[in-house]
Amino acid sequence: MRMGRSLTNYVINQAVYGVGKSLVKEIFKNNTERHLPAVKDNDSPINNLIKFERPEVYFDRDIGGLRDAKEELKKHLIYPRTKQDLYLLFEKQLGNILLIGPPGCGKTLLTKAAANECGLLFISPHMGDIVKRYLGEREKAVQFIFEYCRSLYEPSLLFFDEMHQFTLRNGPPYIQRINDELQMQIDGNDSRKGYPIVVGSSRKPWLVDPAMRRPGRFKTISVSPPNLYERKQILRIKLNNLFYKSMIECDYENLLTDLAERTPNFSGDDLTSLVEDAKDIPIYEARRVLKKEDFDKVLKIKRSSIISWFSEAIRACRRYDEKDLLEEIMKFSPRQT
Ligand SMILES: Nc1ncnc2c1ncn2[C@@H]1O[C@H](COP(=O)(O)OP(=O)(O)OP(=O)(O)O)[C@@H](O)[C@H]1O
Ligand SMILES: [Mg+2]
Repeated sequence: MRMGRSLTNYVINQAVYGVGKSLVKEIFKNNTERHLPAVKDNDSPINNLIKFERPEVYFDRDIGGLRDAKEELKKHLIYPRTKQDLYLLFEKQLGNILLIGPPGCGKTLLTKAAANECGLLFISPHMGDIVKRYLGEREKAVQFIFEYCRSLYEPSLLFFDEMHQFTLRNGPPYIQRINDELQMQIDGNDSRKGYPIVVGSSRKPWLVDPAMRRPGRFKTISVSPPNLYERKQILRIKLNNLFYKSMIECDYENLLTDLAERTPNFSGDDLTSLVEDAKDIPIYEARRVLKKEDFDKVLKIKRSSIISWFSEAIRACRRYDEKDLLEEIMKFSPRQT
C-alpha cells in the first residue's frame, strides 16, 4: 500500500498530538513502501515538525577557510558515501557528527554544503517548537522524526541545530526525556541501512549532556573563527560578483587585504554583515559603485561578535571541569591575526 496523504496526516497527528505511539510504530513497520518527502508541499502538517531543503551550497565556491573542518567532514560524512566499498571493506563504524564553535562561523553552512556534496536531503526538525509546544508528546515527536526520515525514498542528513537546548546536561525532567529518546534513536540509527546521517551543532557544547557527546555517539568537529587569510577568502566570496560587474571602485586586492587586516576576530557572519552594511551606503546615495570609504564608515562602528563567546566558553568549561573541551577552544581563542 502506498501511504496516501490522508493516512500520512493521520499518522502525524497520532504521533504528535495523540496517544498512538504503538499505532505509529505499527504503521511504519508494516508499511514497506517508502514515501517522498513533502519538500515543496507547504501545507503538509509534517512541515510543522520538520524543514526539508536541497541546499545549493558548495564547499569550495561558497565557504571560505575552514580547511580542517571541511577535511574532517569529507572523511566522516562524504567519503563514507562516495567510497562506500572501502568503508565496508574495512568494516568502518560510522558515527554521527557534532559541530562546535562560536556563533556565525559556518556550522550550519558547512552541514548544508556536506549534504549537497553527497546528494543528501537536508532535514532540520523544529526542535525549539517541539520543546515549547508539544507538551507531553515531545518524545513521540522525536521518535516520529526519525521514523519519518527512515521511511523516505532518498538518503538524508538529519540536522539538529543548537543541540544544547534539548540535550542539556542535568536539564529538567522533560528535557531529560527528550535527551534519552534522542540517544535511543541515535543508537539505533545505522546510516549504512539507508537511515539518516545525524549531524548536531552547538555553540555551547559544554552544556550538551556529556553522554550524548561521547565519541561512540558523536564525532566532534571544531569550526573555528577565520584567520587573516581565511577572512580574505570569505570577503572575496562575498564580493566577487560585484567585482566582476565592475561595481567596486578601488583596487580590489588591496581592498580585500586591508579589510581582512582590520577585522581580527570577526566571524564569517560578521564579515557578511560588514559587506551587506557597506552595500547599503551606495544604494541610499543612489550610486552604482561601492567605494573603500563605504567600508571605512561601517568599520567605525562594527565590532567582532565572538569575543564575549570566548570568555563565556572558558568560564563554563572550567565550571563543568571540561578539560578536553577547554583545550580545544583555546586552540582558536581570540587571535592577533
Ligand atoms: N566560512 C564562511 N564562508 C562564507 N560565509 C560564511 C562563513 N562562515 C559564516 N559565513 C556566513 O555567515 C552566515 C552564518 O553562518 P552559519 O549559520 O553557518 O553559522 P553557525 O556557526 O551555524 O552559527 P550559529 O551558532 O549561530 O548557528 C552564513 O550564512 C554565511 O553567510
Ligand atoms: Mg547554525
